[in-house]
Amino acid sequence: MEEFVFFGGKGGVGKTTVSCAYAYRCATAGVRTLVVSTDPAHSVSDVFDQQFGDAPASVDGVEGLDAMEIDPEDEMQRHLEEIREGLSEQVSAAMVSEINRQLEMSHGTPGAYEAALFDAFVGVMRDEAEPYDRVVFDTAPTGSTLRLLGLPEFLGDWIDRLLYKRKQSIDLFEKAAIGDMEPRRLMEGDPVLERLQRRKEFFEFAGDAMRTDAAFFLVLNPDQLSVNETGRAIEAFTERDLRVRGLVANKLTPEPDDDEEGRGARYLREKVATERDRLDQVREEFEPPLVAEIESRTREVRGDLLANVAAELDVETGGEERARTGPTGDSN
Ligand SMILES: Nc1ncnc2c1ncn2[C@@H]1O[C@H](COP(=O)(O)OP(=O)(O)O)[C@@H](O)[C@H]1O
Ligand SMILES: [Mg+2]
Repeated sequence: MEEFVFFGGKGGVGKTTVSCAYAYRCATAGVRTLVVSTDPAHSVSDVFDQQFGDAPASVDGVEGLDAMEIDPEDEMQRHLEEIREGLSEQVSAAMVSEINRQLEMSHGTPGAYEAALFDAFVGVMRDEAEPYDRVVFDTAPTGSTLRLLGLPEFLGDWIDRLLYKRKQSIDLFEKAAIGDMEPRRLMEGDPVLERLQRRKEFFEFAGDAMRTDAAFFLVLNPDQLSVNETGRAIEAFTERDLRVRGLVANKLTPEPDDDEEGRGARYLREKVATERDRLDQVREEFEPPLVAEIESRTREVRGDLLANVAAELDVETGGEERARTGPTGDSN
């Protein structure tokens, strides 16, 4: 398995749950693992009943497992500050307030959140991954986030052209500096060039890592809406020349025993039959294989229940699969 593993899908399907279960499996198989949560609504902190922050910290009771949380809102603020500082060094004071206004506006655009999220997880891939064999993300690379994955090439070209223009303009400045006048701006240490270059390298790293070191899984629920959404997500990946490695079906209705009768049992049987149809459709229509089917529990998956769900998540870890079930046998 690749170093970076992503679990995508719509909100509520079980990305965080499945990510934590997979990370748990990896760690118990002896793979040093970091699980990264990017959704402040339901995060690794809820699953492990332990508060995590924006730096990796070890998960109590699970050897070899660290967790961290990124809040894209915070990232976005940090991002704005950085841009503000960078720019105020480079433009006149009169421009700063106008730039601030523009920045505030761009902050509110729908793409800004995804951009911050993208930066945040690429930042983790680049800066935090070193001590680990595996980094698991509960992020949702669908739609707009996926379009951001196309940014490396797009932005790369754009930055190349900007760099070229910037060099030209600096050349002109240097030529214009005659006599004992110092050239006003020198190529060497030019802050704008450096910034653009760093940004370009960041996106190059991101593109490479996504293509060669990452595996993408999509989590879905066995209902029509989720199946349709998964189809669209697979297409979005394909458009970006990325392949979805596998699909994880979560929240499957458990089947009642044969001798069970009555309204409840009939309801469950019908529901199970409908869900089977949906999963058949998934197998027939989608290229990525269905790699795991996880049943619905009667309560939220956290604490001891996680090990139990992890046992059902038959996704390769790359380690020795010595711990398939957790410390407790509780299965609901
Ligand atoms: N197999 C399951 N059985 C019971 N509850 C589940 C299961 N999978 C997820 N849940 C619950 O559903 C809710 C949403 O799951 P979560 O992993 O946070 O989804 P996402 O990260 O995709 O938004 C959580 O309360 C979680 O505990
Ligand atoms: Mg989540």
